[in-house]
Amino acid sequence: MVNFDYQTPTRLIFGRGVVAEKLQEVMGQYGNRVLMTYGGGSIKRSGLYAQVKELLKDKEIHELSGIQPNPKFNPSVLDGVRICREKQIDVILAVGGGSVLDCTKAIAGAALSDADPWDVVTMKVPTLKAIPIVDIITLAATGSEYDSGGVISRTETNDKLPYFSKHVFPAVSFIDPTYTFTLPLKQTLAGIADCINHIMEQYFCGEHIMMNDAFMEGAIKSLMKNVRIVMQEPDNYEARAEIFYATTLGCNGIYSLGNSPGGWPMHAIEHALSAYYDITHGEGLAIVTPRWMKHILNVRTLERFVAFGTGVFGISRELPEMEIAEQAIQAIHDFYKGIGMPMTLREVGIDESRIDEMAHHIAVNEGLDQAWAPLQEADIAAILRACL
Ligand code: NZQ
Ligand code: ZN
Repeated sequence: MVNFDYQTPTRLIFGRGVVAEKLQEVMGQYGNRVLMTYGGGSIKRSGLYAQVKELLKDKEIHELSGIQPNPKFNPSVLDGVRICREKQIDVILAVGGGSVLDCTKAIAGAALSDADPWDVVTMKVPTLKAIPIVDIITLAATGSEYDSGGVISRTETNDKLPYFSKHVFPAVSFIDPTYTFTLPLKQTLAGIADCINHIMEQYFCGEHIMMNDAFMEGAIKSLMKNVRIVMQEPDNYEARAEIFYATTLGCNGIYSLGNSPGGWPMHAIEHALSAYYDITHGEGLAIVTPRWMKHILNVRTLERFVAFGTGVFGISRELPEMEIAEQAIQAIHDFYKGIGMPMTLREVGIDESRIDEMAHHIAVNEGLDQAWAPLQEADIAAILRACL
């Protein structure tokens, strides 16, 4: 078991009706000037926007709207930084999905720095402090509500880069599963695939312990079961709640304390796909997953495939180990196909024209040659071609 140093300062307030119950109390702990950040309008359609405005009617609220999926540095982060500085914002309230919250984290860190915001986001300049963040998360996927990172896109350079700082952990996250009743099916499914992949990135590693395997296998099985329930009944509270619990923990590291790092290769590959083509993150991951698995399967990595195949899919341990591994790869492919996810790059509008360019970009920027299952540029290109 490897050493770890773990601290998550975020207060999670989880359940039906928690915003009405506790938002005023929470926001009362901060100053009067609030920047409310949100996306393209889902919170207006659901009534959440009106509810928040009513609850906080005594506050001075400024707004940054229109934050897009795969949130953009220009204009969203830059606009948010400008508002925070001009209006001397005390606290940022993010209301929406992971993109809104990720963008908010970049704003919160950059606004209190004298450095160029891009240097803060790319971590050339360390973040020493940040404006406190409260969020009401409306999409079960990223786990951004319980982690210290975000991912920001810069369109001109085809970059989609992670930003981390312990200062941008949300201070408080409100997680009410009823808000996910309104999600389009596509986003529900993409969220499931994102979280399953977060878990797999932590499961496929060198050193690992039995307790973490059980924890992660249980979470994946819960997601696979509950997604089928919400596909039939989008407003099934218990299923939505269990999904949200799994996704909230998914990117925080808590599933794999004591494991060695795997290197997050599938995310590194997908981030290039969504940087170049602005596709939905979870869909890109579902496509990459079985092809990455197939590419890295060998005698050294085999043990993880056997554990995964038997633990998650109940494949018989009596079979030859290579066969268990191959069945596990097929099973994850079939699961995604069975719930209706796109399983080829062509289905999400990507052809082979930029495969080599993306493989080069990933190889240069992501350090996958150091991953648990190392990938060189040619490996990355082969995985991407297999996804076509
Ligand atoms: O913009 P609005 O109108 O709000 O609509 C959004 C958006 O169109 C909609 N939506 C959100 N909640 C809804 C809803 N529609 C109806 N009802 C609701 N309750 O869903 C669409 C997608 O939203 P988005 O925030 O982009 O999705 P998600 O939460 O999956 O976030 C994806 C982003 O997070 C990054 C991804 O790369 C991607 O940029 N990630 C962040 C991570 C982190 N912070 O730790 C880790 C992940 O691996 C991931 O990379
Ligand atoms: Zn992800």
